[in-house]
Amino acid sequence: MHCLMALVLAFLIVGANLAAAAEVSDAPALSESEKVQHRVADMFQPLSKPAEMIHDVSLVVLFVCAVIFVIVTGMLAYVVIKFRKPGDDDGQEPPQIYGSRNIELAWTVIPILITIVLAFVTTRTIGEIQNAEMPENALKIRVVGHQWWWEVHYYEEVDGQPVTYIVTANEIHVPVSSKDPDKRRPTHILLQSADVVHSFWVPQLAGKIDLVPNRTNDLWIDPYVTGTFFGNCAEYCGTQHANMLLRVIVQTPEEFEEWKQEQMAPNLPPQTAQEIRGHQLYFDYSCVNCHKIEGSPSKGIFGPDLNKVWTRQTLGAGVAPMDEKHLKIWVKDPQVLKVGCLMPDMQLLDNEVDDIVAYLKTLK
Ligand code: CUA
Repeated sequence: MHCLMALVLAFLIVGANLAAAAEVSDAPALSESEKVQHRVADMFQPLSKPAEMIHDVSLVVLFVCAVIFVIVTGMLAYVVIKFRKPGDDDGQEPPQIYGSRNIELAWTVIPILITIVLAFVTTRTIGEIQNAEMPENALKIRVVGHQWWWEVHYYEEVDGQPVTYIVTANEIHVPVSSKDPDKRRPTHILLQSADVVHSFWVPQLAGKIDLVPNRTNDLWIDPYVTGTFFGNCAEYCGTQHANMLLRVIVQTPEEFEEWKQEQMAPNLPPQTAQEIRGHQLYFDYSCVNCHKIEGSPSKGIFGPDLNKVWTRQTLGAGVAPMDEKHLKIWVKDPQVLKVGCLMPDMQLLDNEVDDIVAYLKTLK
């Protein structure tokens, strides 16, 4: 009973916090493109090339299946009504008919032909998507699935070797592409997993592809419009599978370049007394064992990279908006917002939480 009350209370607290967050202005500033949110992640409203191709083929399949459904149920309804038991039924069996070569041929050959056509239509689209040549200027990203967050690397090929220049988490910034082949700039994404099978799915941009341990899959996106697109892990991967959320932030080329420069810039040293205390605490406690901050001795790789963490829209892979209030709840005890997540309650005092959060806010 106590357990239940605690749970209800926890829900109320989290709910109230989320509601209050709408009024909190203390959050990282968003670019113009980021403010446009494609809230409904709907595969019937594709805004990028592979998603559009999948949408087209799914309409063909749906149409053919709908026609078959109408014909079959129509005939069934006709037979059920027309040949229902008459009032003056004599109780005798009707004449029994066996075998009709023509009818049997028809109901074998027609479905086979329909299935072949659907299979060809589908495999042609799959082939077109998987064999698409990426242009030279395509943005290259590698995404690694973890329980329960996304690790994101931006890399360039130098002498055939990948060289990472930005590492971030859960939010993928890409430049907007174009339907004009000359102006297009798609993004090519490699998909890997650090633990179990996950699945990368942003319905309005592309199909769903699994992230499988010891294997590299890939997909590409070619978004026509700017804005924040919502996605999620689409393969059950443990307790917090439902909170393994993902955002793709499609920006104008100028905004994207600005974001890239911001991410690559060195972090400023902590300024205020509180930021300095927070910095000290961060390095004194075990934060450094799991998290990485570029240009510092913090080199852990188990948790999300915290470089420029204060430029992200959300924390905990989309479990809460990024603002001071939620960051404090998270640092104090991540289990409040995300039960079962691999970051433990570090038993910090309230003033230590405030100091560490003040330091994390300098990472922008
Ligand atoms: Cu990762 Cu479900």
